[in-house]
Amino acid sequence: MIRPILRMGDPRLLRVAEPVRDFGSAALQALIADMFDTMRAANGAGLAAPQIGVPLRVVIFGSADPAARNPRYPDADPVPQTVLINPVLQPLSEEMVEGWEGCLSVPGLRGLVPRYRRLRYTGLDDQGRPIDRTVEGFHARVVQHEVDHLDGILYPMRMRDLSRLGFTDVLFPGLTDAAED
Ligand code: NI
Repeated sequence: MIRPILRMGDPRLLRVAEPVRDFGSAALQALIADMFDTMRAANGAGLAAPQIGVPLRVVIFGSADPAARNPRYPDADPVPQTVLINPVLQPLSEEMVEGWEGCLSVPGLRGLVPRYRRLRYTGLDDQGRPIDRTVEGFHARVVQHEVDHLDGILYPMRMRDLSRLGFTDVLFPGLTDAAED
């Protein structure tokens, strides 16, 4: 079921979400299914449970088709479809890189955001099985963006220079999906 996505200004996006403790529940599986329906309908690169008003530490990102490229991020390497619960991020160096980000909760805008270039992330999948990956580049960026949602942080709050925040169709006039962000 496609759920409404909360937009910046809603205080529910600023809460710290709670860890998932019950992995067998139908409610958790229904939440994850709704998150995928909602992300796909919006052509998103990822989605966090708080964005649909559920204060749990659940994020999803990536694509089931390894060859697929997100139309909103056509230059990015594909990221495997992932359900990540109770995530922990560990940067593997101090190195930060700046890259353009959008957010389904901040529609129509893009901003230049510094993120760790390389990191390890751990957590659990939808069945409670461990996930442990070392990633870099766009994959690392997506994970940092989504996990920030679990701590009430939206990408503009990570920006160092707000002159690099703008409307997608003004910044990138050729981007065909600019109206949807
Ligand atoms: Ni977002």
